[in-house]
Order: sequence, then structure tokens, then C-alpha cells
Amino acid sequence: MKKRILVTGAAGFIGCHLARFLHKRGDYVVGYDNFNDYYSPQLKESRAKQLQDLGIEVHLGDICNEKLLNDVVEKHEITHIAHLAAQPGVRYSLINPQAYVKSNIEGFLNILELCRNRPTIKLTYASSSSVYGLNDKTPFSESDRTDNQASLYGATKKSNEQFASTYHHLFGISVTGLRYFTVYGPWGRPDMAYYSFVEAILEGRPIEVYNHGKLKRDFTYIDDIIDGTVAAIDLEADCEVFNLGNHRPVKLMDFLRIVEDSVGKKAKMEFLPMQPGDVFETYADIAHSQEKLGFFPKTTLEEGIPKFVEWYKQYL
Ligand SMILES: NC(=O)c1ccc[n+]([C@@H]2O[C@H](COP(=O)([O-])OP(=O)(O)OC[C@H]3O[C@@H](n4cnc5c(N)ncnc54)[C@H](O)[C@@H]3O)[C@@H](O)[C@H]2O)c1
Repeated sequence: MKKRILVTGAAGFIGCHLARFLHKRGDYVVGYDNFNDYYSPQLKESRAKQLQDLGIEVHLGDICNEKLLNDVVEKHEITHIAHLAAQPGVRYSLINPQAYVKSNIEGFLNILELCRNRPTIKLTYASSSSVYGLNDKTPFSESDRTDNQASLYGATKKSNEQFASTYHHLFGISVTGLRYFTVYGPWGRPDMAYYSFVEAILEGRPIEVYNHGKLKRDFTYIDDIIDGTVAAIDLEADCEVFNLGNHRPVKLMDFLRIVEDSVGKKAKMEFLPMQPGDVFETYADIAHSQEKLGFFPKTTLEEGIPKFVEWYKQYL
């Protein structure tokens, strides 16, 4: 049967790619987003316009607006929810913690309550590698304890997983959490390091390199993330959490060399200490996702970063 999928955060980076992919493969897709100004609302409008041009409706609404959310779900006879709307970003959670509690806790609870009232709906939601926080055992596995988040953002994502498994236990709803690892690619998020690095290098401004470059990240290309997310939607698991990462952590200085090569220009670097909320390394163990989702990320940074740079130059 054709799926009828509500994508929250459809004007966002991952949500826009996901909505387009699902629509193209034949699902009925509806978007929902509040177009907030955490970063450029124009970029969100441009993403939404692409979806609208394909015939996908994108509703302007907040996930905290229970009535509107219910009306949209009822009107479109939604069978699946891909819940990506959230307040993202580690650093901003030190500045505006309330925004995280509002969207990631109150908004997430609304999504769960909606599923509680319509228990046939299958929920897939975005968690984050940030749940691993201060975990120093690598690679990070879903079976590791995740009790020590390094940021409020990470703590809200961990809470989402706990709320979801509790709602599964109490009301039997189908819930799958996806721990995304540093997602990058065309139509990406301007608050993320790779985006601001490319921007600064092209404009000749210095880039800020935290912990003097001694960080490692498991960068994951958007198309691979979409493959894993779609596989999770199709799995319709009872209650699961999956890592979606590249399984190839890269040193920040090596990453910067790939960015410089892709842009064709050297970066001016300003070396700074470790930032509060940050972690030294992220590294996904994907054995569980490989087994249950057939998740095999293919895109190397040498392939993915030039694709981002090409999009950036066209878009700006
Ligand atoms: N991009 C990554 O590297 C990454 C890594 C880990 C987890 N995630 C998670 O994946 C999801 C998608 O991330 P993204 O990178 O596409 O972020 P994004 O900010 O581009 O997309 C999120 C969208 O949700 C919308 N939104 C936020 N609060 C809302 C609310 N209260 N009501 C309605 N809409 C709201 C925003 O306007 C935005 O368009 C988020 O849950 C994020 O926490 C992303």
C-alpha cells in the first residue's frame, strides 16, 4: 500500500531531501515546518519551493500547535510520520536553551501524543550522535550507555529516545530513532562548520578551528542519510534506535584539506581552544544498521564536499 507520510521539518536540510526522495519513489508526502529564523528563512523558503514545485504541500505550522498538527494528519490520512523538525545545533543550546525545550521536548511530546491517539501511525524520528556525548569508547554503538551528554541539545535528543520507548511500552506505537552523524551536502545548514568553512574561504575570511584542529568527525553525505532514513521508514520496527554515520571518522585538519582542494583556495585559520558542548570525536558503529536497514554509506568526503561546493556557488 502506498504510504502517506508527514515530514516535519520539511523546509530543513534533511527534511527537504527526504520529502523529495519519498515523493519521487511514489509515496504521498506532506510537509510541515514553522520556517523559524534560527538560520536564513529564505533558504528554507527555497527548499520548500522545490517541494511545492513537485506538487508537495508544505504546511506552515509549529509542532507545538497540537490542533493544527492533528488537522493536517487527519486531512491527509497520514500513515507514517518522519519527524525531523527540531531545534538543532550544539553551541546555540548554550545561548537559548528554551528553544530546545520548546521544540525538542514539548514539540516531540505532541508528536508522540498524536501517535498515541492514532496508534497505527508509524513514527521515525531524528535523534543525534550527540546522545553519545562524553562517551570515549569508539566506535559508538547503540548498545553503549548514553548517560553523559555534553550539551543540552544532546540531552533533548536522548530524552526523545526515552520518551519514544516509554510510549512504545505504554501504548504499543511503532517508534524508530535515527542517530545522525554530522550530515553534509547540497542545501545544507549554514550553522554547520563545513558550510561556514566554505563560505569563509570563498570570502577570504579566516575560519575558526576549534581545539587547535584536534577533533575527529564522522561526516555523512546526505544521500546516504536519506537511504538509511527511508530504509528505517520501510522497516516499521516496533521500537528501535539506529546509528546512521559514515563509519569513517576524519581528522579536522584532513577535512580542511579536502575543503581547500574542493574550493580551490587555501584557508586562513584561527586556532582556538575546545568549545563548551563540543566532543573530541564521533565515530558510528553501523553493524546494527547494516544488518537491519542494509545501510552501507558509499560517499567519500572527496566526492561529497565538491558536490556541496558546486551547489553553494550556484545557490549564492
Ligand atoms: N544535520 C545534521 O548533521 C544532524 C545531525 C544529527 C541530528 N540531526 C537532526 O536531524 C533533524 C533535521 O536536521 P537538519 O540538519 O535538517 O536541520 P534543519 O534546521 O535544517 O531542519 C529542521 C527544520 O525544522 C523546522 N522546525 C524547527 N522547530 C520547529 C517547530 N517547533 N515546529 C515546526 N518546525 C520546526 C525548522 O524550521 C527547520 O526547517 C533535526 O531533528 C536535527 O536535530 C541533524
